[in-house]
Amino acid sequence: MKLDLPFLKKNDLIGLDIGSNSIKFVQLSKGKQGWQLVKLGIGYLPPEAIVDGSIIDSLTVADTIKNLVKEQDIKLNEVASALTGHSIIIKKVSLPVMTEDELAESIQWEAEQYIPFPISDVNLDFQILGVDTEGGGQMDVMLVAVKKDVINDYINVIKDAGLEPVVMDVDSFALENLLEANYNFEPNENVAIVNVGASITGLSILVGGVTVFTRAVPMGGNQFAEEIQKEISISFKDAEAVKLGQEVEGVDPNTVTPIIERLSGKLAIEIKRSIDFFLGGSAGVYINKIFLSGGASRAKALSSTIESGTTLPVEVIEPFKNIICNEKTFDLNYLKEMSPYFAVAMGLAMRRVADR
Ligand SMILES: Nc1ncnc2c1ncn2[C@@H]1O[C@H](COP(=O)(O)OP(=O)(O)OP(=O)(O)O)[C@@H](O)[C@H]1O
Ligand SMILES: [Mg+2]
Repeated sequence: MKLDLPFLKKNDLIGLDIGSNSIKFVQLSKGKQGWQLVKLGIGYLPPEAIVDGSIIDSLTVADTIKNLVKEQDIKLNEVASALTGHSIIIKKVSLPVMTEDELAESIQWEAEQYIPFPISDVNLDFQILGVDTEGGGQMDVMLVAVKKDVINDYINVIKDAGLEPVVMDVDSFALENLLEANYNFEPNENVAIVNVGASITGLSILVGGVTVFTRAVPMGGNQFAEEIQKEISISFKDAEAVKLGQEVEGVDPNTVTPIIERLSGKLAIEIKRSIDFFLGGSAGVYINKIFLSGGASRAKALSSTIESGTTLPVEVIEPFKNIICNEKTFDLNYLKEMSPYFAVAMGLAMRRVADR
């Protein structure tokens, strides 16, 4: 499911994940033997460039993308990008049974009651999940709405960087796409995807491979650094460095470990709460495991803390699994080390305009 953009062509796309901490891009090609990694890069942003999912400093964001394009000598210019949970409303709603075409006609009208903004201010998309088994002529529909001004800011920054946005996705759907392409699910296997970024943790639940629930937990790597900053009175920059395991003069790394452990525990509780909330409204459904992604999932012990906090098995997503990566071109250790950062960009790079 992607948000509609009017200008669509059929071609290979660059997957461009514009996060608040860093911009990630991936280029893949699809051959007879499967997906092959062609190019990949990451550019870091200063903390104030994107705040709460809104682009504040578009010049810096566009320049960071431009530098990546130059550095990596990217020749393609069509882009699949995504918005994060901050700016998106995703709701499962119950509507009278109708065809996809009929719903496309009436979606504006049907969605009105579920969206807290004027309907003319949002871009809408939907996916029909299925007809209610209880009868009554209703069907479940996943409704997605994004404020036009937010989506336009992302489109403009991509254009300012000299690229052409042709697909605008939602990061959690890009992760669904990645899992679909990289993992073989049993039909009755249900999973949660937890994407721990810098400013937000996105949680989505896939039942039978389809996203049926999403939630944005306002916690991420930044909060870890902010707590370290407060508790041991150092700058945010130093706190971020210590968190990443770098040496900072005058800071004993042992003082940081309990702070990280405490926050990891807090995040695990939030994840459990969201999953329990979902399960509470979905009789007979259970979750088999959690897939973890996002830069902050590289934190030592986060996955085991979430595992014990939720009592569900946790697996860190391997976005390069089943992808041909030429070891002459790419440092495989670097790819392994950095892989949690690239999950969304990989899911985006696997989009083809034709699969809309
Ligand atoms: N080894 C590590 N330990 C702890 N945190 C880490 C580690 N490596 C990266 N991070 C954190 O991961 C975060 C960046 O992750 P990611 O790139 O997924 O975020 P983003 O997509 O830029 O942000 P968002 O989606 O929240 O806007 C940063 O907060 C960074 O400090
Ligand atoms: Mg992100």
